[in-house]
Amino acid sequence: MNILVLGSGGREHTFAYQLAKSERCKNLFVAPGNAGTAAIATNISLCVTDFKAIEQCVLNNAIDMVVVGPEDPLVQGIVDYFAATPGLQKVQIIGPSKKGALLEGSKQRAKEFMMAHNIPTAGYASFTAQTLDQGKQFLETLKAPYVLKADGLAAGKGVLIIQDLNEAKLALAEMLGGQFGTASNRVVIEEFLDGIELSVFVLTDGKNYKILPTAKDYKRIGEGDTGLNTGGMGAISPVPFADDALMQKIEQRIVIPTVEGLHKEKIDYKGFLFIGLIKVGDDPFVIEYNVRMGDPETEVVLPRIKTDLVAVLEATYGQHLHTLDFELDPRAAATVMLVSGGYPEAYEKGAIISGIDTVSSSILFHAGTAINNGSVVTNGGRVIAVTSMDEDYKKAIKKSYQNIEKLSFNRMNYRTDIGFDLH
Ligand code: AMP
Ligand code: GLY
Repeated sequence: MNILVLGSGGREHTFAYQLAKSERCKNLFVAPGNAGTAAIATNISLCVTDFKAIEQCVLNNAIDMVVVGPEDPLVQGIVDYFAATPGLQKVQIIGPSKKGALLEGSKQRAKEFMMAHNIPTAGYASFTAQTLDQGKQFLETLKAPYVLKADGLAAGKGVLIIQDLNEAKLALAEMLGGQFGTASNRVVIEEFLDGIELSVFVLTDGKNYKILPTAKDYKRIGEGDTGLNTGGMGAISPVPFADDALMQKIEQRIVIPTVEGLHKEKIDYKGFLFIGLIKVGDDPFVIEYNVRMGDPETEVVLPRIKTDLVAVLEATYGQHLHTLDFELDPRAAATVMLVSGGYPEAYEKGAIISGIDTVSSSILFHAGTAINNGSVVTNGGRVIAVTSMDEDYKKAIKKSYQNIEKLSFNRMNYRTDIGFDLH
């Protein structure tokens, strides 16, 4: 098979790395990719929401399978585009239809879906500029902290958690006034759930599903989960507190009703579903759906799947996931993200990264890198995810930190406390 992975981050490098191992993978392409994917596949420069350019790339390279990494093309309907375009209809594209992708593209839609299918989530109401006053009144009925979410995609920045009631009212007005562009034309206000977060990843073919390893990511820039939100500074898998009892509840109360809900609503969904959860007491609640894999969670989840990834994705597209023999690596995985100094605010690109060739006991998944005059240089806020596997997560984390000692670039930054809350 000729396979194309869309995207350019650590998630996409991880997909490419796993796909490249398969005997069923003949030619592998990543678009646009990074310096890491260039070493194992052919990078193609294109924009992941330019469907015409993707069509050309698929036809020119006789692509049989497309794996969509990020949410934007899914929310914009890439799967529907393939279904409607002669010449692309036989291509096995992995990802939900536009209707399915709305579970991530609209927080309001996700809430309605959860309500319709009795899936546990925080109580909520949603408001527009016309109903700002009702929104403020609704805030008064809640207890602090207040959770305000832009309805649409806001590059991971659209959720505000505010302690003070008056500040929350002001923030609501600002959001509805266009703080996040059209993404905050509607704002979902949610009850605050107090607990510990984890993510569950599900692969579904629209009828059947497989639950992939759990993961926990560390979103804040600062040690001890402080400071600004980032795309993710590290992750571990499996999540130590996700025991059988909790996983049973998650499967029965959340995964099964979600997959059945998609099926009942006739939503075409052949792809990954990332369920963000908070465990309150002993009970799981959904805080969000993402219609793709997480980043950096992918960097710890996929390396733990031993089954040939091409076979897994073929079973997904062919709707026979139930017949797939799914084998996991019992070892734990941890990843630590090296980021550019200043990230998630302004940062510089183009710093030469040294030491890459000296690391052998961790896998370096490139996130924001490029090649410049033969050197690997930084090309983003998140630069490299250092993934390690070992018998438990503590050993895996330690291995990543040991290997990070060998890597350097100007203003390199990373969290030294990944996993701190689990000990
Ligand atoms: P989201 O983009 O929906 O994942 O929200 C971003 C972050 O906000 C989550 O990772 C949680 O830490 C937090 N969050 C979202 N919704 C809630 C909620 N209802 N209660 C508490 N924290 C939340
Ligand atoms: N790590 C969170 C995300 O991918 O959305």
